[in-house]
Amino acid sequence: MNTKKRLIIAMTGATGAIYGVRMLQILQTLPDWESHLVISSAGLVNLKYELEMDKAELYALADVTHGINDIASPIASGSFKTEGVVVAPCSMKTLAAIAHGFGDNLISRSADVALKERRKTVLIPRETPLNLAHIRNMAAVTEMGGIIYPPMPAFYNKTDSMRAMVDEGVGRILDMYGISVEGLYKPWTGLGNNEI
Ligand SMILES: Cc1cc2nc3c(=O)[nH]c(=O)nc-3n(C[C@H](O)[C@H](O)[C@H](O)COP(=O)(O)O)c2cc1C
Repeated sequence: MNTKKRLIIAMTGATGAIYGVRMLQILQTLPDWESHLVISSAGLVNLKYELEMDKAELYALADVTHGINDIASPIASGSFKTEGVVVAPCSMKTLAAIAHGFGDNLISRSADVALKERRKTVLIPRETPLNLAHIRNMAAVTEMGGIIYPPMPAFYNKTDSMRAMVDEGVGRILDMYGISVEGLYKPWTGLGNNEI
C-alpha cells in the first residue's frame, strides 16, 4: 500500500518553468512525498527555452509522470487520493480553463478534481499587466477555494538572486501543504524595534 503523500505538479506555458522544476527538486528530497508531474506542450517549449531542459530531464525529477492528454490517468479522478495540485507556472489560458471548470486536458482536469474534492489548489499565475478576464478568473478560482500565488518577490529580503526569489515562493507554497524545508526562505521576524 502506498503510504506516501501525493502532490501534483502541473507546468504550463507561462514563463517561470523554474517554479515547477524547483518544486520537483525539493519533493525529490522528501521520502514521505510522491510527486506527480504533468506538463503541457507549451510548458515543454518554455522549459527548453528558459532552462535548456528537455522532457526526459524534467521527467527524471518526478516520481510519476502523466501525459497532458491522458484523461484516463489516475489524477483525473477524485478517487485517487492526493494532497492537491500546484500549477507552477500557470498560464492565463490554463487559469481560464480552471476558473470555468473546463477540463480539456489533464492539467485543467486535475485542478478541477482538486477543487471539487476541496483539496489544496495553488496557482502560480504569471502575466503582467492583467486584463479584466485574468482578474475575474483569479477571483473565480479564489471563490472555489483555490489559492492564487503570483510569483512576486518579498523585496524586504533584499536579494538580487533569482534563485532566492523563486525559492522564497516555492518554500512558502510548500509550507501550505505542511512541507517545511529549512533554508528555502527566511520568515519575516520583525524589525526588533518596539518604539515604532
Ligand atoms: C516564451 C513564452 C513565454 C510565455 N509567457 C507567458 C506568460 O507569462 N503567461 C501566459 O499566460 N502565457 C505565456 N505564454 C503563452 C502561453 O504559452 C500560451 O498561451 C499557451 O497556449 C498556454 O498553454 P498551456 O496553458 O496549455 O500551457 C508564453 C509563451 C512563450 C513562448
